[in-house]
Amino acid sequence: MTKPEEFIGSIEFDHRLAPFDLRASIVHARMLVRQGIIAPSAGRKIVAGLTGLLKDVEKGKRIPPAEDIHFAIEKALFRRIGPVAGWLHTARSRNDQVVTAFRMYVRDRIDHIDGLLCRLERVFLVSAEKQMGVVMPGHTHLQPAQPILLSHLLMAYAWMFQRDRERLVDVRKRVNVLPLGAAALAGTSFPIDPAWVARQLGFGRILDNSLDAVSDRDFTVEFLSALSLIMMHVSRWAEELVIGSNPNLDFVWIADPFVSGSSIMPQKRNPDVAELMRGKTGRVYGDLMAMLTLLKAQPLAYNRDMQEDKPPVFDAVDLVESVLDVCIPMVETLRWNAEKLADACRHGFLSATDVADELVRRGLPFRQSHGLVAGVVAYARERGLSLEDVPLPVWKKQSPRFDRWIYDVLSVSKAASHRTSPGGTSPVRVKEQIRRLKRMI
Ligand code: ARG
Repeated sequence: MTKPEEFIGSIEFDHRLAPFDLRASIVHARMLVRQGIIAPSAGRKIVAGLTGLLKDVEKGKRIPPAEDIHFAIEKALFRRIGPVAGWLHTARSRNDQVVTAFRMYVRDRIDHIDGLLCRLERVFLVSAEKQMGVVMPGHTHLQPAQPILLSHLLMAYAWMFQRDRERLVDVRKRVNVLPLGAAALAGTSFPIDPAWVARQLGFGRILDNSLDAVSDRDFTVEFLSALSLIMMHVSRWAEELVIGSNPNLDFVWIADPFVSGSSIMPQKRNPDVAELMRGKTGRVYGDLMAMLTLLKAQPLAYNRDMQEDKPPVFDAVDLVESVLDVCIPMVETLRWNAEKLADACRHGFLSATDVADELVRRGLPFRQSHGLVAGVVAYARERGLSLEDVPLPVWKKQSPRFDRWIYDVLSVSKAASHRTSPGGTSPVRVKEQIRRLKRMI
């Protein structure tokens, strides 16, 4: 049975804010002394007590529970230094205290996740360099489309993760605003110095409006959106692996630790890690939705509803960090099957566009060229041939404009290397992308 005080509390989940709350409280106490708001002797005892608690927490010790982590820390401080602890909560409220610690936590995780994304991006870059020259079928509608370089596909993901990092940098600016000093909702009559506190705690700026400072959780929504996009990218990548590792294609081999067998079918190597990466994405989206719904229509300023802002953020952080932790070594240990990838380019008429393009260069409007090549493709498809196997007279019957040159144009590796437009799949362009991204990270 849940007791009301348990129902009201958040200690079950907000323990991880302890080190941030302690650091903020230490600076708050110092500020109170600097501003002559509390006596230096009281300040010294409070700072010593909080520093002791911070050391314990950093060693992995748990603060004994209370309603929430902020009350738990205050109680622990009273036990350590006695009634002088009562001076700490001058000129602040739990409302500005909670969101200060929460912002510090989010900032800390942004920096950690950025580091993980940077590593993942490098893994993609390195394999793009290593796989340079490997040709594979590119798809639209999951149907064979045109030949591309495997490195081009790998770089597409590297750019996604680069954007994810840029987004985090941007979100961080709005996370890194100090709300301390708003007190309960209206500010305080004590002569506090939030600018000094902000500098000590590494905040870029201070609050502009005390009501907004205690009620604003936009930064959590922005953070959860950034995390959702990371998961969306990871899950698209996971899908590439699920498809590419299917033995019927055999494009890529996923290393043993990242697959699992079946309890009944001895031959199985199921891509469980990739599937779970895909599956966990929905939970992160759910966390974003939970946050938006939580905030909707809450009147200013603080409401207890707001306490529910933490579980979705903690859940999403844990998911994203664990996903990136396993994704990095999984990508690092992939084995690409260049032969199978090249083989697959022989099906699906991947060079059809190139023949049509060549007709344009030889003076025919594209729509007409498209129609002529489509005619030959239909002939080949009916007979189970590839375009290379279609005899020249058949081409010529379709149009006298076709000649021996078609066989040259049909080479898939040439088709890939001819796409030299900016951002295209030709090796020159892919090498250029690699250089550019390397300079950016
Ligand atoms: N644990 C609460 C939270 O996370 C603390 C804030 C309580 N403030 C209040 N005015 N009752 O939001």
